[in-house]
Amino acid sequence: MKISKLNHIAIACRDLDKHLKLFGEIFGMPLGDVVEVPSQGVKVAFIELPNVRIELIAPLDDQANLNKFLEKHGEGLHHISLAVDDIKAALIELSDKGVGAIDKEPRPGADNRPVAFLHPKTTGGVLIELEKD
Ligand code: CO
Repeated sequence: MKISKLNHIAIACRDLDKHLKLFGEIFGMPLGDVVEVPSQGVKVAFIELPNVRIELIAPLDDQANLNKFLEKHGEGLHHISLAVDDIKAALIELSDKGVGAIDKEPRPGADNRPVAFLHPKTTGGVLIELEKD
């Protein structure tokens, strides 16, 4: 397993428009299009910075899993995404080292690249997403 970089930081939003205004208009950052990802029940917009991306994620509807996070924690930091060379190999290696995974297999992520989430109970309370480099 080789982790090459911080891919993105994700912020959970109840009100995506409010965050688009904050990051786009007030901070003047380059906003990408809002994309709906029905398989995960979310809509997503990426902000591309030279060294890292910021992912704004909001629930698509009342059924979205993200609502549970928002009820528990409110709006704010949701996960960090690390780029790895091989997600499957990383999951096996991390499991051997006692790190739990929410996703036992890679699945398509918000920007259509394979991802897998690790369990925050085994990663110091931080929700970590592994994304194919
Ligand atoms: Co992400």
